[in-house]
Formats: sequence, C-alpha cells, structure tokens
Amino acid sequence: MDFNKELSERVGYVNDILLKYLPPAEGPQKTVIDAMHYSVMSGGKRIRAILMSETYKMFGGKDEVIEPFIAAMEMIQAYSLVHDDLPALDNDEYRRGIKSTHAMFGEAIGILAGDALLNYAFETAFKAFSIKPSASKQIAGALGIFGRKAGLYGMIGGQVVDVETENKTIPLETLDFIHHKKCGALIEASMMIGAVLAGADKEEVTVIEAIAADVGFAFQIRDDILDVTGTTETLGKPAGSDDKNGKNTYVKYLGIKKAEEEVDSVSNRALLKLMSLPYDSVFLGELIKSMINRVK
Ligand code: IPE
Ligand code: IPE
Ligand code: MG
Ligand code: MG
Ligand code: MG
Repeated sequence: MDFNKELSERVGYVNDILLKYLPPAEGPQKTVIDAMHYSVMSGGKRIRAILMSETYKMFGGKDEVIEPFIAAMEMIQAYSLVHDDLPALDNDEYRRGIKSTHAMFGEAIGILAGDALLNYAFETAFKAFSIKPSASKQIAGALGIFGRKAGLYGMIGGQVVDVETENKTIPLETLDFIHHKKCGALIEASMMIGAVLAGADKEEVTVIEAIAADVGFAFQIRDDILDVTGTTETLGKPAGSDDKNGKNTYVKYLGIKKAEEEVDSVSNRALLKLMSLPYDSVFLGELIKSMINRVK
C-alpha cells in the first residue's frame, strides 16, 4: 500500500465533501461566510474526517449518509481552532500556514465565524436524515454523540479547564482531563460516529471509543511536543505558544523523552485493540501510526 498516496486521495475526498456542504458565499452575511470558508478550506490534515470515514468503512458502511457528518466534523474542528486562536484564548496569529481567522477578519467576525460553523455543523449533519431515512435510529445516535463530545462534557469542557489552569500547578489527573477532553473528545466522536452509522453494536462502539480516546490523548501529547521541537514554518502555527501562555503540557510535566514514551505506549495500546477486532483495519492502523509520528 502506498500510504501517502492513499492518504492524499482521502484528503481530496474530504475537501470535495466540504465544498459541497459549506454555504455559498453570498447574501448580507457574506463576510462571515468568507471567514467560514477561509478557516475550513485552509488545509488541515483532515484526520478526524478520515478516521470517521475509515471506521465507517471498516464496519461495512457504504452509503453517502456519512458525508454530512464528515463535513460537520471538520466544521467543528475549524470552529474549535478559530476560537482557540482568539486573543482571549491562546492569542495565536497563524494557523495552517496563514493568518488565523481573527487576525485576518477581525475579532468580531472571528467569534461569529466560529459560532456560525458550530451551528452550521449541526444543520449539515441533520441532512443525513433525508439522505437515508431508513437509518434514522443510527443518525439520531450519531447526533447525540456529536453534541456530547463537542460540547460541555467534551471538547469545550477541556478548553475551559485548559484556559483556567494557565500558569497554575495542577495534578497530572487534571492535565489528563484537559487532553482527553480538548483533543480526545472530537477524535472519539469521529470514530464512534463512523461505527454507529455503519451499524456497529454497543460493545463494538465502546471498544472504538476506548481506541479513539488513546489515539486522541497521544495526539495531544504529540502536539505539545511539537510546540517545543517544531518550527512555526513546519507547524503552520506559532511554535512556543504553550510556553507563552503558561499552559500545562506533558512536556512540562515529564520532559520530551518521557512524553514521547507516553505517546508510544498509549498509541501501541490503541493499535493492539484495533488489531484485535475481526475487521480489516490496515489503513486505520497506518493512519494512527502516521498521527503519532507526525512532524506537523
Ligand atoms: C489541532 O488539531 C488541535 C489539536 C487538538 C492538537 P490538528 O493538528 O488536527 O489540526 P488541523 O486540523 O490538521 O489543522
Ligand atoms: C487545542 O489545543 C485543542 C482545540 C482547539 C480544541 P491547542 O491549543 O494545543 O491546539 P493548537 O496547538 O493551538 O493547534
Ligand atoms: Mg489551546
Ligand atoms: Mg492553541
Ligand atoms: Mg498545541
């Protein structure tokens, strides 16, 4: 398998879906729609979308019903980054190699573009009902997961504790909470939604949630490492942002070497669980490995 070629084909597939579902840039609210396109279509690895569609395929899913959820997940991801970069949060001026949305459009449009993306993500995901009415039960389940994992008890919850504990010493359990929620939750939602829409049973979804939790946790520790070892050019976002903001990170707690060991052991645990499932998980496994070893 030529993994890089297959991955770039999948990125293209996700980008095509996003272009299909994003609102047309017209009407009195055109500026904010421009900002939505700017933040969503500015690159991005599309990892959550690809984890979703690959998990869907792994469990035998074959329909277009996954597409609005793929688009919705990357809209939520873009909104979370637009708001994360705001002056009141991480105050970062670059994202995906270009100016962050608030730096380009101003703070008010930055806030509103994030709000609009969050709402539009749900409007988009609801379109799944008309694509496959016979899958209403699975779609309703997927929407529940989506709301919970993106919200107060998921990503937003993690972001709250992340900003509230800047420049404070916190126990490792609190740092684990931040990482599991602010990063892990959307990765859990991505894989779980793929599984649910393909008709996976409850036990299978629970296994997928545990795999994704490990993957998301390791992904955030790698992000913390890259914030220290990477450059602004390769990352496409400001290196050293965590130190600037007094963030609690795994690197701060354990040092780079031990943080890397943690990434390896948590991801290997996820890979072992994935391989124990009686499905073809070759591409998903390669994808998880590439996320762990990434340089941006
Ligand atoms: C960045 O996520 C935010 C984190 C949770 C670490 P990604 O590294 O997946 O960002 P994009 O979507 O590829 O830009
Ligand atoms: C934020 O983590 C995760 C979310 C945006 C929800 P970071 O603040 O570490 O993400 P980056 O480094 O800015 O991408
Ligand atoms: Mg942040
Ligand atoms: Mg940030
Ligand atoms: Mg970071």
